[in-house]
Amino acid sequence: MVVRTTTRLRYHWGVSKLILQRRRNKKKKKKKRYPSFCAVMMMLVRSQVVVVHILALILLIITPSSLSQSNQFCDAGIGYGEENSRCGTGIGSSNSKLLIKDGTVVNANHKHLAHVYVEDGIILAVDPHITVGDDVTVIDATGKFVMPGGIDPHTHLEFEFMGTETVDDFFSGQAAALAGGTTMHIDFVIPLNGSLTAGFEAYAKKAKKSCMDYGFHMAITKWDEVVSKEMELMVKEKGINSFKFFMAYKGALMVNDELLLEGFKRCKSLGALAMVHAENGDAVYEGQKRMIELGITGPEGHALSRPAVLEGEATARAIRLAEFVNTPLYVVHVMSIDAMEEIAKARKSGQRVIGEPVVSGLVLDESWLWHPDFETAAKYVMSPPIRKRGHDKALQAALSTGILQLVGTDHCAFNSTQKAFGIEDFRKIPNGVNGIEERMHLVWDTLVESGQISVTDYVRLTSTECAKIFNIYPRKGAILPGSDADIIILNPNSSFEISAKSHHSRLDTNVYEGRRGKGKIEVTVAGGRVVWENNELKVAPGTGRYIEMAPYNYLFDGVDKKDAAYLNYLQAPVKRVKSST
Ligand SMILES: *[C@@H]1O[C@H](CO)[C@@H](O)[C@H](O)[C@H]1NC(C)=O
Ligand SMILES: *[C@@H]1O[C@H](CO)[C@@H](O)[C@H](O)[C@H]1NC(C)=O
Ligand SMILES: *[C@@H]1O[C@H](CO)[C@@H](O)[C@H](O)[C@H]1NC(C)=O
Ligand SMILES: [Zn+2]
Repeated sequence: MVVRTTTRLRYHWGVSKLILQRRRNKKKKKKKRYPSFCAVMMMLVRSQVVVVHILALILLIITPSSLSQSNQFCDAGIGYGEENSRCGTGIGSSNSKLLIKDGTVVNANHKHLAHVYVEDGIILAVDPHITVGDDVTVIDATGKFVMPGGIDPHTHLEFEFMGTETVDDFFSGQAAALAGGTTMHIDFVIPLNGSLTAGFEAYAKKAKKSCMDYGFHMAITKWDEVVSKEMELMVKEKGINSFKFFMAYKGALMVNDELLLEGFKRCKSLGALAMVHAENGDAVYEGQKRMIELGITGPEGHALSRPAVLEGEATARAIRLAEFVNTPLYVVHVMSIDAMEEIAKARKSGQRVIGEPVVSGLVLDESWLWHPDFETAAKYVMSPPIRKRGHDKALQAALSTGILQLVGTDHCAFNSTQKAFGIEDFRKIPNGVNGIEERMHLVWDTLVESGQISVTDYVRLTSTECAKIFNIYPRKGAILPGSDADIIILNPNSSFEISAKSHHSRLDTNVYEGRRGKGKIEVTVAGGRVVWENNELKVAPGTGRYIEMAPYNYLFDGVDKKDAAYLNYLQAPVKRVKSST
C-alpha cells in the first residue's frame, strides 16, 4: 500500500527562504514535488511516477551490482537490466539532491553565473547564493556552461521500414542520446495498417524500456472517417499534438494533395501542428526510373534521383496549402537551399512556418555518396538526400539568422548489413543516418565555436524552441525553478571525437566517423539523475517517462482572428435584389 502525506519543509537559499509544498511517498522514502506551472502535466507525472518507482525497485533487486560500465554498446534494451547489459545499470546517482555550482547557467534568453539546486527530479532554485547540507551531491561547474538538456524533435527508434527495423531501440537510442547531452526526443508513431490506435499502442510498448523522457508525433498515411476520429482521440487522450504527412515514398507512406488538405484542416480544428516530409514523391519515382535506365544503380543514384528542386517544389506546395487552410506548418528535415528559401519567403510574408534542418544536412555534403566503397557510400543514404557543398553553409546561416528555428537529427539507424540490401539497387538501401548522440556536440562545434551563434542561441536551437513548439515549455527546455532537472554541463575547453568504436548506438558505422571538435558535454542529468559522467553511462530501462503534449501551441495564437479577418475580407455573399420576373 502506498501512503501519501503532504508536508511543508523549509530551505535556505542564502538570503531567501522558500517554503515548498511536497508530497512524500512514505513507504519507499521517495519524494516528489509538484511545481505549479502546469497542474495537468503533474497529474500525468503523478500517475507515472509510481510505475517508475516500482520498475526501479524491481531493477535494484534483479540487477547484479558488479556490472562493468565502460563498454560502448547499449544492449540492455533487449531485457530489463539483463546481465549482458553493457551500458551500466542502476538509476544513476541515487541521491535525489544535487547542486551544480559556479557554472554559467544558460537559458535561451539569458545567461548568468549561478548555482542550480535539484531535488527529486525538479529544479528548485537557480541562484548565485545557495548553501546546502552534507546530504547533497555537489558538482563543480566552474568555467563550464550549465544548459537545458537537448530535445531532439525528430527520431525513429525501433522503426520498421523498407523491410527491416532500425538497430537502435528506445533503450539503446536513448542511452546514446544521453551520452551526447540529449535528454528528451520526440519519435514518430507509424499507424499499423492505417490504425492510429494500434500504432500508438505498439509504440507505447516499444517505449517501455525507455531511459529518458520522450514524446510522440504521429504519421498520417491514409484518410477516412476513422482516421479523422482517431486523430481527435490522439490529441485529446493520448498527448499527441502533431501529425506528419509524407509527400514522398510513393506506394508506401505518401499522401496526395487531397489527403494533405483534409489532414491540414483536421489538424487546425484540433490545434495540432501539421508536419511535412516535403519531396515530390511522383517525381522522385520518375527520377529513380531514369537513374536505373541510365545504369546508375549505386548510392550516388539516390542523390541524383531526387534533386533539390523536388524538395523545393513540395515545400512550396505544402506551405501554400497550409496558407490556404490558415494553419501553422512544420517542415521536417530541411536539406536544401531550395526548401529553405521557400520557408524564408513564407515567413517574410508573415506565415507561420517552422523549418527544421537536421545535423547531417548542416555538416555533411553529398560527395560521400560517390565514394568508391559501397559500405561507406551507403551509410549516407537518407531522404531528402544530403546535398552538394554550399547547401550546408546556407542552412547554417539560415539557422543563425532565425529563418530556420531548431535542429533535429532524423536519427534512423540501419547498420552495414541492412544497408547492403541495396548493393545492386540504391532504391533498396534503407534510408537513414545516425545523429541522436552527435547532434549537441556538432551544433556546438559548427555554430558556436565558429562564432555564428551565441551560447543562448545554442540553447534555443537545441532545446527551448522545440519545447515551445511542442508545448512543453517551461517544464522542458529551461533551467528555471519548477522545470524538470534535465541538465547538461559543457566544457568549452575540452574536445570530442566521434567514432563507431566509442559511440553508444548499436550501429557498426557512423556518418561522422573521425570527426573532432571543441566543446565536450561532461555531465548529463536526466530527471534529476546523473546519467553521464566521467565518460560513463548509468542508465536503466524503464526510467524514462512519456511526456504528453497539449494542443494549441503558440503558433495557433491569432489563427481565429486571421480566419475572422478573412471572412470579413470576402465581402460575400453579395446580397442581390431578386428580379421579380
Ligand atoms: C576555459 O578557458 C577559459 C579561457 O582560458 C577560462 O576562462 C575558463 O575558466 C576555462 N574553463 C575550464 C572549465 O577550464
Ligand atoms: C494488416 O493488414 C493485412 C492485410 O489486410 C493483414 O494481413 C495484416 O495481418 C494486418 N496487420 C496488422 C498488424 O493488423
Ligand atoms: C545489423 O543488424 C542486424 C539486425 O539486428 C544483425 O543481424 C546484424 O548482425 C547487424 N550487422 C552488423 C554488422 O552489426
Ligand atoms: Zn524522419
